[in-house]
Amino acid sequence: MQTLKKNGFIFFKINKDTKLLINKINKLIGNYKKENQINFEKIESDKLSRHTLLLQNKINRIVSPKKFFETNKKNFKEFFKEEKFSIQSYFYLRITQPHKNNPKYKPIDFHRETFQGPTFYKYIMNIWIPIKNCEKNNSIRFIKNSHLFKKFIDFNFKIRKTNVRKGSVENKIGLLYKDRKILFRNKVQISRLFKKDNFILFYGDLIHGGAKNITNRSRISIDLRFMIKKNMKFNPIQGVTKKKYFKIIKL
Ligand SMILES: [Fe+2]
Repeated sequence: MQTLKKNGFIFFKINKDTKLLINKINKLIGNYKKENQINFEKIESDKLSRHTLLLQNKINRIVSPKKFFETNKKNFKEFFKEEKFSIQSYFYLRITQPHKNNPKYKPIDFHRETFQGPTFYKYIMNIWIPIKNCEKNNSIRFIKNSHLFKKFIDFNFKIRKTNVRKGSVENKIGLLYKDRKILFRNKVQISRLFKKDNFILFYGDLIHGGAKNITNRSRISIDLRFMIKKNMKFNPIQGVTKKKYFKIIKL
């Protein structure tokens, strides 16, 4: 807990049951690629977005976030000394092509999760799970100690539209139609979040963003957000799915 509070993130070793979930997802993706004869490295990005959404739905049918929490009881129940959690009801699937094959793609810019939700989102935490071809020099970027940064003191921001349309396929796979560009007031230290065979838990307030995929293979990961149940003030309806954002679980 101290490590999480101090750094804003913590790595958890992927256990045997979680490894099985990951293998299941990999198998599903492998079969899907074969059936549809898709090459994730070469396919055009709008087609990839459509396939990502279909695959995202398929994955959520076989591996629910609830199942993931149950297979990691220790890392949540004992770690937080809580048994009720509000968890995002589905996983987002991220498939990032090699940058050289899709140079127009812009990784998700530095942000906090609070930028996209009500104020109690300050309690939100992220889970990031590697699925395939994830490595350190290719992984999530973050600003060191930024979970402690204060708005207007350490940074300002300006709101801008992205080229993602609200309600579009891209929007449904977790890309934003509006974001906030952070302007840091002091020099910051950018680092990367990754540890082999581990999943990452990090505060939504830790300023983070996607990274260009500099390898030759498409990088695949899943992620979700959650918080301790008692911190949830209400359960927001998700714009895209029209469903409640959080599912409440007891471990
Ligand atoms: Fe994020």
